[in-house]
Amino acid sequence: MREKDVRVLPIRNGTVIDHITAGQALNVLKILGITDKSNSVVSVAMNVPSSVIGTKDIVKVEDRELIEDEVNRISLISPKATINIIRGYEVVMKHRVELPARVDGVVKCVNPNCISNTSEPVVSKFLVSGKPVMLRCAYCDYVISENIAAHLI
Ligand code: CTP
Repeated sequence: MREKDVRVLPIRNGTVIDHITAGQALNVLKILGITDKSNSVVSVAMNVPSSVIGTKDIVKVEDRELIEDEVNRISLISPKATINIIRGYEVVMKHRVELPARVDGVVKCVNPNCISNTSEPVVSKFLVSGKPVMLRCAYCDYVISENIAAHLI
């Protein structure tokens, strides 16, 4: 950690989600279920200069290590994010998020006639491709490529 990067305090234990696409931090909070009712300790930095991606957002969640489903959701809205697990002030694990090949029950299809939007008990299913992230509905082929955060279930 370089001194110029210390914009919010280092944390003792928890997860730092770094290199979030600038502007997506609030959507990351939403994915993590962090609301005005939560009492977890969370730090958010937005539009921080980054040598790697221009500007970035950062979210630090104390005393919580994210699960795979949460990381997969974050990858859809922030494919360059890195997940850093912090224990005893040390980064003990660091990895770039990876786009899953498919997401089930994560995104709602925009097509009102899609079988996943009828009364049928059908779980939404999207095939995922990257650069930029594109989601193709496995049932009706509808493609979602913009404002993916708005369609997260
Ligand atoms: N961090 C933190 N608390 C700690 C240790 C690290 O909040 N106790 C944060 C840092 O501020 C940084 C991220 O976790 O945002 C990753 O830390 P580190 O790997 O030390 O930083 P860099 O080498 O700059 O990371 P990268 O190479 O991924 O840019």
